[in-house]
Amino acid sequence: MPIFFWPVGDIIREEPIRDLFGRPLRDLRISVIDSCNFRCPYCMPAEVFGDSYAFLKPAELLNFEEIERIARLFARLGVLKLKLTGGEPLLRSWLPELVSRLARVEGIEDLALITNGAHLARMARPLQAAGLSRLTVSLDSLDAETFAFMNGRAHRLQPVLDGIAAAEAAGFRRIKLNAVVIRGMNDHQVLDLVRRFRGTGHIVRFIEFMDVGNRNGWRRELVVPSKELLSRISAEYPLSPVEPNYRGEVASRYSFTDGQGEIGFISSVSQPFCSDCTRVRLSADGRLYTCLFAAKGFDLRGPLRHGASDGELLSMIRTLWSRRADRYSDERAARGADGIRKVEMYTVGG
Ligand SMILES: C[S@@+](CC[C@H](N)C(=O)[O-])C[C@H]1O[C@@H](n2cnc3c(N)ncnc32)[C@H](O)[C@@H]1O
Ligand code: SF4
Repeated sequence: MPIFFWPVGDIIREEPIRDLFGRPLRDLRISVIDSCNFRCPYCMPAEVFGDSYAFLKPAELLNFEEIERIARLFARLGVLKLKLTGGEPLLRSWLPELVSRLARVEGIEDLALITNGAHLARMARPLQAAGLSRLTVSLDSLDAETFAFMNGRAHRLQPVLDGIAAAEAAGFRRIKLNAVVIRGMNDHQVLDLVRRFRGTGHIVRFIEFMDVGNRNGWRRELVVPSKELLSRISAEYPLSPVEPNYRGEVASRYSFTDGQGEIGFISSVSQPFCSDCTRVRLSADGRLYTCLFAAKGFDLRGPLRHGASDGELLSMIRTLWSRRADRYSDERAARGADGIRKVEMYTVGG
């Protein structure tokens, strides 16, 4: 098959690629580390991921040159957005150096990072200076006890709040605050989060508890459908729907009718959004996953370390994407979730 090239600004883009459902490739999520200082029960339950759990060894992680090279290849294939994740990305040594490399990749319009915020107070400024454009902080509760329970390691809430304040001071605006809502755990506290961040310019996003991986004890009864939260929140603070910023945006947006900002809902269980999914995920050891619920990743690190040329790597990625038929969340309702092997969330980072 011939390969077409054309210049866009300074970057040589390849012919755009589409998967079997016509979905383009637009976002690359890069996991920079698989380990984490938290043990959120919905992601890495402490009873499964104990102190002696074997995470990847340093030599198994992609190094910064490798990550940068992969990001450049993806930019040539049409990727516009990069998001750094983990595990906990702020545990990766020298992270600002990686950010500054990625901020210079031609064709990338948006470079974001998601963190649990525990180390954000000291990292916000270096990350901003290195060229990070956007930040998401995961924050499930403003109640110290619930927060301690939901991070599985009794971490205190205050350092995360200090991290958010440091990020504001460093110049980050419209910070996204992600809360996974679990029935009986923190669903009675969603209004506290709404109240705290209304009027700050930041955006709280409520995420339905997803059946990612096979070890987080997911049960449908624990999922709080976004519709239920929407009616509870709008009873106190009237909301109206807002158009997505772009096709395929994961959160549905609502603004406060009194002009105090917006909130979002990520409803992968009750309202799957597979048909617009343009994301690919790179694990910290260099595997590509074309779906959050995929069983198998495609090893890119092997060929990379064995001298594959850019052309060869591009062709592998192109083939992988053009055969992509994943639509797990759409199919969940029909076939059920039980018994299917899936990648764990901490491997691909959400
Ligand atoms: C896997 S974490 C990685 C980045 C970082 N450690 C953090 O927590 O922000 C990325 C996002 O996935 C979310 N997440 C993890 N497990 C989830 C689950 N089972 N259902 C819904 N969201 C989940 C987290 O709350 C977080 O917002
Ligand atoms: S959600 Fe993030 S902070 Fe919580 S255990 Fe998973 S990787 Fe760690």
